[in-house]
Amino acid sequence: MHEFVYHVPTKVVFGCGACNQVGDVVREYGSKRCLVVTGQGSAIKSGLIDRITAQLAEKGVEYAVFSGAQPNPLLSHARAGVAKALELKADLILAVGGGSTIDTAKAIAHGAANPETDLWQFWLGKEPLTKTMPVGAVLTIPAAGSETSDSAVLTDGDAGVKRGLNTDFNRPVFAVLDPELTLTLPPYQVACGVTDILMHTLDRYFNPYVDNDTTDAIAEALLRVVLAEGDVVREHPGDLHAMSELMWAGSLSHNNLTGLGGKKDFAVHQLGHALSAKYNVTHGASLSAVWKSWASYVAPVDGYARFARFARNVWGVTEEDGKAAALKGIALQSDYFHKLGMPVNLQELGVGEVDDAACQALAELCSYGRSRTIGTFQVLNADDILAIYRSASSREN
Ligand code: NZQ
Ligand code: ZN
Repeated sequence: MHEFVYHVPTKVVFGCGACNQVGDVVREYGSKRCLVVTGQGSAIKSGLIDRITAQLAEKGVEYAVFSGAQPNPLLSHARAGVAKALELKADLILAVGGGSTIDTAKAIAHGAANPETDLWQFWLGKEPLTKTMPVGAVLTIPAAGSETSDSAVLTDGDAGVKRGLNTDFNRPVFAVLDPELTLTLPPYQVACGVTDILMHTLDRYFNPYVDNDTTDAIAEALLRVVLAEGDVVREHPGDLHAMSELMWAGSLSHNNLTGLGGKKDFAVHQLGHALSAKYNVTHGASLSAVWKSWASYVAPVDGYARFARFARNVWGVTEEDGKAAALKGIALQSDYFHKLGMPVNLQELGVGEVDDAACQALAELCSYGRSRTIGTFQVLNADDILAIYRSASSREN
């Protein structure tokens, strides 16, 4: 094992009916004024917000509801949330929703704790974040893993830029994971979530270190479980056991358990963020649309060894030849995304024709104007990134 620091202080309350404990948990953290942040309506429509605010009222916690976080959440909306948190004098930000809502809550917490600084400065790395407010999360979709992650992703809609901020200040103090809350999810969102969960582990598993045996074994086991449960929910939408496994796997996949000792790659996420910034596509779809092109491009870097291991240990591929095994594993993974109903190239992403000029613009965006590389399994410069977008733009993929 290589060196690492593992600090995931989020208290997790897991299980069917766990959302009935939100009031108790909020009180446990000493909150007297709580800003409840939610998305564009699903948690209001399902009655979840009413159930939670009733618990807050019963516990004597003053609250206000701030709704409207949209998928690929906007900086401008988070700024409005900061004003709301300050007006309420909130001492806790409670997210009720998915990654977009939780990331909005994290941004509001950072902004409200530092009212003298525009919060985007933290995302641009121009100001160091040194304090925040506590965030709690009630998760309604297994996907982004934001409920225990150290990350928050925002989009500056005016500049067309999507950026992540990684800091331990992003770890929520508690996360309530109630699988029953996922039963109202549309199948497409479930598929996007399964894809994102897989990708959080894949983007760690494919890294230059090959001697983190415990981490790799955990990663492979998690991938096998998520692939199997993803099949179950595809065939039986709303299967509660499968959703509960996905919910826990989603948290573990992105709290770094599956990457300890490794050197995070996350190239596919960076390629996907540029797609979401330009076309506002769903996060999970942005990842599956480029994965095969990325994998085919980088697999030779170690003589196909890592991808062959993936194929054998995750997909049960038996080919003895390393290259043949690796290519079979890539094909099986890509076919799996397709079976889920996810796009596996840019043509299928539903954004119209992505011509060469569009690929060049994406490569500019992803490489921050050719000023950075991405990835660690194979370090990719702007030309590599362009080659991957070009490959992904072909329907052959
Ligand atoms: O807004 P509402 O009305 O709630 O609808 C949402 C939204 O349309 C809906 N939904 C959520 N729970 C539901 C539900 N509909 C019915 N029933 C329920 N129980 O699902 C849609 C997607 O919600 P969203 O929060 O956007 O999903 P997800 O959790 O996939 O979050 C995606 C965002 O997280 C970022 C992504 O880039 C994207 O912006 N990520 C955040 C990460 C992090 N903070 O650690 C890591 C990820 O890699 C990712 O980048
Ligand atoms: Zn993701």
